[in-house]
Amino acid sequence: MSTRENVLKALENNKGAAVSGEELASRLNISRAAVWKAIQELRKGGYRIEAVTNRGYCLSPDSDVLSREGILSCLNGDFPPERIHVFKSLESTNLTAKKMALDGAAPGTVVIAGEQTGGRGRMGRSFYSPPDGGIYMSFILKPQFDAAKSVLITTAASVAVCKAIENVTGISCRIKWVNDIYLGDKKICGILTEAVTDFESGHIDYIVCGIGINYSTSFPEELSGIAGALFESPSPGGHLSAGEKLSAGREISPGKDVSRNRLIAEIISQILAISENLDAKTFIEDYRSRSFVLGKEILIIPRAGNDGERNLADGIPAEAVDIDEDGGLVVRYRDGSLGTLNSGEISIRTVK
Ligand code: BTN
Repeated sequence: MSTRENVLKALENNKGAAVSGEELASRLNISRAAVWKAIQELRKGGYRIEAVTNRGYCLSPDSDVLSREGILSCLNGDFPPERIHVFKSLESTNLTAKKMALDGAAPGTVVIAGEQTGGRGRMGRSFYSPPDGGIYMSFILKPQFDAAKSVLITTAASVAVCKAIENVTGISCRIKWVNDIYLGDKKICGILTEAVTDFESGHIDYIVCGIGINYSTSFPEELSGIAGALFESPSPGGHLSAGEKLSAGREISPGKDVSRNRLIAEIISQILAISENLDAKTFIEDYRSRSFVLGKEILIIPRAGNDGERNLADGIPAEAVDIDEDGGLVVRYRDGSLGTLNSGEISIRTVK
């Protein structure tokens, strides 16, 4: 670790409290001048570090620059630091994670960016990923199960993200099948899972699960009708505390310390816990209880080239009745027949 990273780690571990320059220097076995230089570098990088007379340096609780040290300080236990990769800007965290997987990165590796210049969404769409207001992260996972069940990763990931948001902010989000997360009537998170296959055998070597959360994103007019953010008006630095307004008029529960680094750390814990236990499928019940499509009238929108015999340009009306054990959506068509939808083939629109 560099001096800058070591100093940052010490400050993040004592966020909101002063750490003396002398103590930092002796703990890290460096000079006071080297500590000062590292503090200057960190300030240039956007960290809010106050010099408190006779007490040392204090990383402001408002400071929320994305960093490995900031995330690690919120993770309980021994998460291997080298598995967390934080970038200021990437074309797409999924793309970088796939390249890393092919280069031999360990399962459990997480790639995070403060901005994506070519964020990718499902079905070939793009994902709006401006700087500062979002969380863009991708996990490299090694499936310990039948490749056909890989689709379950996406289902599991949406439960993991909802739980993480609940644990960190105290608010509940809902899931629109298959993997869109909503706060009120606005989408605040999308998930894109992609497989890395062995070219010769065709077997799935790795799965890359990408999560995009609109943390405090402001949207251009054309998106603002459908997309929302967790937080309406972040304090400078992105940190939020109890009482600040959430989208849809909600407030953070008292006593919650909310930051992007903390939310990322909680998502890491939840995703790794669920993905290690995917076969148990206990998360399916969690998914059902957070689903907002069950019991509703929906329109099934076939993808191009997959219209089948029910070729309806405006969508096929049905009722969403259940989520099956494989994460499929069980629907009842107008003629009373039942069918199960597979995430790869369709999208749905709720109509009431
Ligand atoms: C969707 O809603 O269509 C899925 C959006 C997935 C966006 C995330 S952001 C992190 C990761 N990198 C990407 O390029 N896409 C995913």
